[in-house]
Amino acid sequence: MNSPSTPIDTPQFKQALSRFPTGVSVITTHQGGDANPAEWGHSFVGLTASSFNSVSLTPPLVVWSLGLNSRTVPSFQKASHYVINVLSDQQLPACQQFAFGQGDRFNGIDYELGVAGLPILKGALAWFECRNRSQYPEGDHIIFVGEVERCGFADGSPLVYQQGGFSSVQKLAG
Ligand SMILES: Cc1cc2nc3c(=O)[nH]c(=O)nc-3n(C[C@H](O)[C@H](O)[C@H](O)COP(=O)(O)O)c2cc1C
Repeated sequence: MNSPSTPIDTPQFKQALSRFPTGVSVITTHQGGDANPAEWGHSFVGLTASSFNSVSLTPPLVVWSLGLNSRTVPSFQKASHYVINVLSDQQLPACQQFAFGQGDRFNGIDYELGVAGLPILKGALAWFECRNRSQYPEGDHIIFVGEVERCGFADGSPLVYQQGGFSSVQKLAG
């Protein structure tokens, strides 16, 4: 076992964090500007994020964080809404495309538009249509708190991210 070190060593910090398994989401919004929602077409942005979590039931609030060096920062900072899509274990290709894909990340991705006109990925295990309620710059990320206006879910198993790899869950007896 590694002993605590001071100051925090970044690779060790990342290794320790990676022992905490998370689900994986793709968060989508519009790239911004003066576009009419009816004409948005392909001008959506999205990224893979494992930082999603719940905050509050009343009001219904969720949280996630966005790295300051993401090209999507300006879009999410000014967006009125975004959609958090929780990925199933059948959606590893979408996870990789929204994390590493070059060009249009929606290329080949099936989606429907939610009430706010933003992409809900087909096959997602759950989705949360959020109002962009508040933002808090902290360190090298911005923390976003979303107020959930609508949500839905489907049957299936989640995609899990841990120790730099992907897996699906195996239920234990009991
Ligand atoms: C499993 C996984 C989880 C990730 N979680 C986050 C996250 O919570 N926040 C974030 O800003 N980036 C996260 N990333 C990285 C972004 O998906 C990626 O850096 C981003 O899409 C880079 O491209 P961009 O500059 O077009 O945003 C994650 C990547 C992977 C593979």
